[in-house]
Amino acid sequence: MPNKGMFITFEGGEGCGKTTVIKALKEKIKKEGIPLHVTREPGGSAIAEQIRNIILDRSNTLMDPRTEALLYAASRRQHLAEIVLPLLKEGKFVLSDRYLDSSLAYQGYARGIGIDAVYSINEFAIDDTMPDLTFFLDLKPEEGLRRIAEHRSDEVNRLDLEKLSFHEKVYEAYQILLKKYPERIVRIDASQTVEEEVQQIKKIILDKYAEKQKN
Ligand code: TYD
Repeated sequence: MPNKGMFITFEGGEGCGKTTVIKALKEKIKKEGIPLHVTREPGGSAIAEQIRNIILDRSNTLMDPRTEALLYAASRRQHLAEIVLPLLKEGKFVLSDRYLDSSLAYQGYARGIGIDAVYSINEFAIDDTMPDLTFFLDLKPEEGLRRIAEHRSDEVNRLDLEKLSFHEKVYEAYQILLKKYPERIVRIDASQTVEEEVQQIKKIILDKYAEKQKN
């Protein structure tokens, strides 16, 4: 784990508002004079974005679940090596829209490969780089899908097209992960306003940062 920087990830189901929250949070944290970089998975670097295009292409209807899991892990590795690790080394804060827990939830649990099996392929990819903090934006799948239907119909990808039962499994998986990693994953009520969420998250990050500086 890097000494000065912090690696913070954001997780949640479709339509939970991660991207909006991260954008608002970025401005707030910058005001504190903390150097930070916002990125996303799958993607976040040129090579990783090419892998993202294969994974999310709506015409790839024959994609095997294990292939999907491996591609996410490959995209993650490239993004880590090229973007995240160098920034953490420089002492920056890195905020990532999704990371390992997405694979554990979507591929491991919802696709039925198994959380442990997906963790093990990701162990190779992440090589011990776990986030310092992870925020799970908690929103019921029905509500998330409703938000997507209202606002984002132009951006619907291959995973958005899954049935409600798939998204319910993803939600269930995150509940399991919250229990498994209580020190790292913090639940945030995503039915609040963006402003409320941002205030709450910012405080947790700054407290953790202060604690980290002491050690
Ligand atoms: P994206 O358009 O970025 O969706 P969102 O705004 O919900 O993050 O698409 C990413 C999709 O990929 C999303 O449906 C979640 C899925 N995903 C996985 O299934 N496994 C993973 O490891 C990651 C990072 C994402």
